[in-house]
Amino acid sequence: MKFFVDTADTADIRDLAATGLLDGVTTNPTLIHKSGRQFLEVVEEICGIVDGPVSAEVVALDHETMMKEAAILRKIADNVCIKVPLTIDGLKTCKALTGEGVMVNVTLCFSANQALLAAKAGATFISPFVGRHDDNSFDGIKLIEDIRLIYDNYQFDTEILAASLRHPIHVLECAKIGADVITAPPAVIRMLSKHVLTDKGLEAFAADWAKTGQTIL
Ligand code: E4P
Repeated sequence: MKFFVDTADTADIRDLAATGLLDGVTTNPTLIHKSGRQFLEVVEEICGIVDGPVSAEVVALDHETMMKEAAILRKIADNVCIKVPLTIDGLKTCKALTGEGVMVNVTLCFSANQALLAAKAGATFISPFVGRHDDNSFDGIKLIEDIRLIYDNYQFDTEILAASLRHPIHVLECAKIGADVITAPPAVIRMLSKHVLTDKGLEAFAADWAKTGQTIL
């Protein structure tokens, strides 16, 4: 399972990349706004921090303008992955770009039928939004299950990038189902390493080690 971080905060990205556990980055217009930085400049910096895919989202709603925006974004670096919305124009753009060998992440996916269309359009990644699904009283994890089943039925290569994850249980459920990738905020990724019994165990070992009066170095 690949781990992407969902942020445009380059300090967080550097910190997580230093663990060697980070496979890519996803951004969206809201995260760019939150960073307070210029879109193209921040994407370029992120592409220099990680080797894996860095999703940069088009903002146009029509195919022609999406293609023009994608032309600018794809020039930034080889690891830029163009993010397009799950609309007919977005799917048309996805088909055209992947036909030219460009990575495409189809975003704002809220149904398995939408995911089926993205796979048919040759998407590199499909981003079903688990948390936003849950927020609206739909079952976000069930959505991942349905897409996994459909993609496996037809051996689609499109990778399921479980997005809008809010807590470690979302990550666990996605891993059990077999999502190919998860993207989550830095805080959620950091939480995955935490366990109260790990902390308690460390405290006890440190106390007993101190009683031995020994040192290793
Ligand atoms: C995915 O690529 C999106 O950027 C993201 O996961 C959306 O998450 P949110 O619903 O927490 O905003």
